[in-house]
Amino acid sequence: MTSSFNVHDAAGYEQIMGRWSKRLAPLFIDFSGLADGEKVLDVGCGTGSLTFALAKYPNLDEIAAIDFSPVFVDAATRRNTDPRVKIRQADACALPFENGAFDRALALLVLHFVPEAGKAVAEMRRAVKPGGVVAAVVWDHLGGMPGMRMMVDTIATLSEGGRQLRSRYCFQPMMQPGEMKQTFIEQGLVDVVETELMIRMDYQNFDDYWAPIAAGEGPLGKYVAALDEAERVRTDAAVRDAYEAGRHDGPRSFANVAWACKGIVPGADRT
Ligand SMILES: C[S@@+](CC[C@H](N)C(=O)[O-])C[C@H]1O[C@@H](n2cnc3c(N)ncnc32)[C@H](O)[C@@H]1O
Repeated sequence: MTSSFNVHDAAGYEQIMGRWSKRLAPLFIDFSGLADGEKVLDVGCGTGSLTFALAKYPNLDEIAAIDFSPVFVDAATRRNTDPRVKIRQADACALPFENGAFDRALALLVLHFVPEAGKAVAEMRRAVKPGGVVAAVVWDHLGGMPGMRMMVDTIATLSEGGRQLRSRYCFQPMMQPGEMKQTFIEQGLVDVVETELMIRMDYQNFDDYWAPIAAGEGPLGKYVAALDEAERVRTDAAVRDAYEAGRHDGPRSFANVAWACKGIVPGADRT
């Protein structure tokens, strides 16, 4: 299996994650760096949060974007009005580009959905020229996402299936401290640096938080959608109680921490 991501609907993705990955994208670009005239590859572009953040830089030459999901490729393509942006369906583990085609390859919130994440990093390295940059960000589900941990911890109290969901969720690939850095080094990247990036997710009320998951979006939505009626009612009520935390329904804001890692493709003449 090349992707563990559950795609349901592009608009639902925007509500569950796209609106937040848009906040993370500029921080990731600052971390990764950019220079005039570069060709940049967005690996796992989804609906285009990073692609269109990159397109705000007028001096980039080319922005290529790939995603495994045809639903997301269609949605991102429909959004695009920039001739420098080229979007296509492809697998991060078998990138359809020549060696050294890009100056940078970036993956925003993707590698934790790639079971063979090392293979994807190797492909990003191959597609970037010597001296170029490979960079990726993944969420820290275990220790860095209290808003989502609250949900999976609540679900875990209700059933064995919920406990298994929590374990899968907390230990997706690349999420442990230093894991992504180690993978980058194993794949031959040099000057590898790992850091943390933080954004807040701000919800208007419980429905704003829960609706995309209740509609079956993302890995958590897939679990919830498969519950029978009675379990579903119990789950909705328990998660609502956790969200409200003893106060009236209304706005809640959660900090979210992501691991970010970058490395240089060796072989450039640095003299
Ligand atoms: C959480 S979404 C992130 C999307 C986008 N980068 C963003 O930040 O909004 C994860 C994305 O990774 C893509 N993905 C997962 N495995 C992939 C693979 N093997 N090759 C290409 N894309 C993959 C999914 O289709 C999905 O679009």
